[in-house]
Amino acid sequence: MSQSLNIRRVAGALGAEISGVDLAQPLPDETIAAIRRALVEHQVIFFRDQDLTPAQQVAFGRRFGPLNIHPYVTGMAGQPEVMEIIKEPSDRINFGGGWHSDMSFLETPAIGSILYAVELPAWGGDTLFASQAAAFEALSPGLQKTLEGLNAVHSASREYSAQGHSAQKRGAMQVAEADGYVGEYVHPMVLVHPETGRKALYVNPAFTLRIEGWKTKESKALLDYLFDHCRYEAFTWRFAWAKGSVAFWDNRSVWHFALNDYPGQRRHMRRVTVDPWPAAQAVAAE
Ligand code: SIN
Repeated sequence: MSQSLNIRRVAGALGAEISGVDLAQPLPDETIAAIRRALVEHQVIFFRDQDLTPAQQVAFGRRFGPLNIHPYVTGMAGQPEVMEIIKEPSDRINFGGGWHSDMSFLETPAIGSILYAVELPAWGGDTLFASQAAAFEALSPGLQKTLEGLNAVHSASREYSAQGHSAQKRGAMQVAEADGYVGEYVHPMVLVHPETGRKALYVNPAFTLRIEGWKTKESKALLDYLFDHCRYEAFTWRFAWAKGSVAFWDNRSVWHFALNDYPGQRRHMRRVTVDPWPAAQAVAAE
């Protein structure tokens, strides 16, 4: 049965809370289409008071595209598409504790991520989101035009190498070190959203190494400027989780940042990450 969605925008740049839907149920196509429209319009959407088993989260995620299996983070036993994002009271570093877009280090980056809150600290542990469409639109026409002609090189090397930030969390999470060469992939610095046509900056401090064809110093100067610009407060929204909350963000137009402000407490989330449909299926779905 179709469920009527109540969609409430939460901030100027991005974000909407959706109520009136139970994500554990097999939802009709029109409800999935309405959720997808809300996602691409608001860039990140939130649901409260959900009760999802890992299998139900997988089933919901698969309605939006094939699910990614993370190359470095071991998924749940029997449910490899589900990443358990856990910070134990004794851990110092959290997963995702810096601005990034998920999986931009892959040749075909993920289009979205669906994060479900299992257990939360008594305070803290919010996630910040920043609209990269708003960030692009706030630039001068001159810089917009320059960036539209450029590509950037992305890699997992910084985060998942032996010294990397993520690789240091092996205690609580099963994060592997990248073993040897992890690959570098080139993506446009400005993505045109395939569903809305809206343009967004597509570089991030975690995975973007340099601008293709530029000297290191030139590249660093422009990227540092953009990384600073892209997290300007007016482009952001901060989500305070409760047990059962779900956030679903569009990686093509949103950065996110998991705050690490709850020392000595446990936080447990589950994420599934949505890849794009293979081209033939995407055309069939239109
Ligand atoms: C992530 O980067 O996917 C983790 C976000 C979070 O735990 O809030």
